[in-house]
Amino acid sequence: MRWTIIKLDIVSSTQIAARKYIASGNGAGIVIVAQVQTNGMGRRGQNWYSPAGGLYLTALLKPIGEVGLIPLLGGVVVAETIRTRTNASVGLKWPNDIILEGKKVGGVLVESGWFKGRIKYVLLGIGVNLNNSIPEWLPEATSLIKIIGSMVDVDEFLNDILISLDRYLPYLESDPETIITSWIELSHMLNRKVEVTNSSGEAFSGLAVGLDSDGSLLVDCGNGIKRVVTGVLEFR
Ligand code: BTN
Repeated sequence: MRWTIIKLDIVSSTQIAARKYIASGNGAGIVIVAQVQTNGMGRRGQNWYSPAGGLYLTALLKPIGEVGLIPLLGGVVVAETIRTRTNASVGLKWPNDIILEGKKVGGVLVESGWFKGRIKYVLLGIGVNLNNSIPEWLPEATSLIKIIGSMVDVDEFLNDILISLDRYLPYLESDPETIITSWIELSHMLNRKVEVTNSSGEAFSGLAVGLDSDGSLLVDCGNGIKRVVTGVLEFR
């Protein structure tokens, strides 16, 4: 993929900045990167704390192949980048939280970019706490600098993310199973007890036993396997 990197100082959200390219028809490969986001967006309507020192990007992708696996793919590329650049023991928590020492260091937000009734792009948003400090009111978050004790070069990290994207994106079409296998290999959660609340608000607990081919989480509840397409998960 030929990436066109657009660097911005401050934006409300790189997702919002990326939306203006949707109608253009030639936005695939555009990557919006911001130093600071004033209204960074997380999953489920949450905010994403985005001070200077972190990496905040949105990549515009053509919707090709198993697009439903893009959220997992996003987690894989961030985890792989952290793993190759540091010795930190990185893990993935379904569907796409990137975890270091039990805390969240990065997250992935995927949106469909619609124009005239068609999905023209997938907007892959990635946020990683690199050199930024984490305030007390975010006890479940961490940053890479806190874990490895030294600054990370944000541009080099971005470059590695794009290299990893180049490696994984073709699998959406040619071999989606590789994305699932890589996710499982990088995750630390299979065979762990989890408590899940699915999108209908139903809560249940069980053993996380695998991923379905569409990326849904499979949970063994003792009386059968439940498939979680979207939901919130906690370890027990
Ligand atoms: C999550 O809740 O885990 C997803 C966080 C995604 C944050 C990134 S930062 C870059 C992009 N722009 C946003 O506003 N959000 C995503």
